[in-house]
Amino acid sequence: MNGRLGQRKLKKLRIRGNEVKMNTKLTKILMKPSIRYSKVVNFLRQFITYEPKEGLVRRVIYGAYENGINGDYLEFGVWEGRSFIYAYNFAKSKMPMMNYYAFDSFEGLQKPKGIDKHSFFKKGKYFCPLDKFKKNLEWGGVDEDKVTIIKGFYDNMLTTELKEKLKIKRASVVWIDCDLYESTKTVLNFIISYLVDGTIIVFHDWYCFNCDEERGERLAVKEWLKENPSISLSQHMFNNIFVVKVRT
Ligand SMILES: C[S@@+](CC[C@H](N)C(=O)[O-])C[C@H]1O[C@@H](n2cnc3c(N)ncnc32)[C@H](O)[C@@H]1O
Repeated sequence: MNGRLGQRKLKKLRIRGNEVKMNTKLTKILMKPSIRYSKVVNFLRQFITYEPKEGLVRRVIYGAYENGINGDYLEFGVWEGRSFIYAYNFAKSKMPMMNYYAFDSFEGLQKPKGIDKHSFFKKGKYFCPLDKFKKNLEWGGVDEDKVTIIKGFYDNMLTTELKEKLKIKRASVVWIDCDLYESTKTVLNFIISYLVDGTIIVFHDWYCFNCDEERGERLAVKEWLKENPSISLSQHMFNNIFVVKVRT
């Protein structure tokens, strides 16, 4: 009996050894620059690796999971739903209790005023009608029962009355992707009560306006932190991802 078991173990080890040898050989072949950067592999890469935004969402969701807050996902500026769909699909098994909130005008940008004026940002840019967004979510496998869509421009919509209607207790992730200073400032003031230690905030447009500290998301954040000394942000993973600390 012992002998047979011993033989089986040896056989397994031999197979494992061969597998390791095969893997090393295969890795050596596949890592060869002439193969790794060949046209065929470059073509296939788009189907088997994460595109940049997808990779970013994945890291954020995994970070939120590790922070263990058990809160919701709030996205301000969803457009056609790309980051929203990624977030849902990465989070659904890790954080099954998570609910997802999509805040957007579904009419694109408002006419930028003052410091928000820029040749790139025009009224109506990123227009995506609500129906199309909903269809995209369906295509993306998002469970509509987990999603609350809040349609409207932030300056009129993000009110105390809306807060009373929504069932958000705390935020695990706040994804802010609405480009402009004005919009970001309104969003930041709205989310304060949902923030807890460990909430992750992503400022997706951190690098817009040539990274000017006096414009866009950077200015909105700078002013907001000054006005709310109980809140501080620590950089997490990348420059535009922050973890919240709330002092009581
Ligand atoms: C760059 S897109 C968002 C991209 C999206 N997160 C994605 O993954 O593709 C910006 C979105 O912010 C929305 N938005 C910007 N300012 C807004 C405001 N003040 N009120 C409501 N929606 C706004 C626009 O309608 C647009 O859908």
